[in-house]
Amino acid sequence: MNQRIENDHKALHSALKQIDVAFDEVPDFATFKDWKIELLWLLRDFLNQLQKHFDLEESGGFNDELSRIAPHLLAQVEHLEEEHLKIVSDLTHILDILKTVNRPDSGKMERGRLRVEALTAFIRTHESAEHAIIQEAYLRDLGVGD
Ligand SMILES: [Fe+2]
Ligand SMILES: [Fe+2]
Repeated sequence: MNQRIENDHKALHSALKQIDVAFDEVPDFATFKDWKIELLWLLRDFLNQLQKHFDLEESGGFNDELSRIAPHLLAQVEHLEEEHLKIVSDLTHILDILKTVNRPDSGKMERGRLRVEALTAFIRTHESAEHAIIQEAYLRDLGVGD
């Protein structure tokens, strides 16, 4: 399998773990602003990482190769590409909301936290569906998938 994609999936997995603990210790009022900047930058770097990952899958020839090896999976590959759009727009929206939070104890803060949690779960489901498609395509390519 494409080594670059595989490495990129590993990097994505580590980033997800970092995001998992990002809200573990929300600070008090005194340090909230510094904490918030770190959180925004972490999520913004993650957004950039995701977009580059999706570039690689969509434009790096990887999805084309998948569709060529396993044309019957084309609809599923297209569905994954649509999910990329949802992930990017959700995360952009979450960032816009979190940016306006000024108090650690606000309801907006809690909703932001829950949405990040839901998004990371969605990305993990997406990645495992993608993994299953890759497995099926390459097994079939080797002639053992039928
Ligand atoms: Fe993907
Ligand atoms: Fe992926």
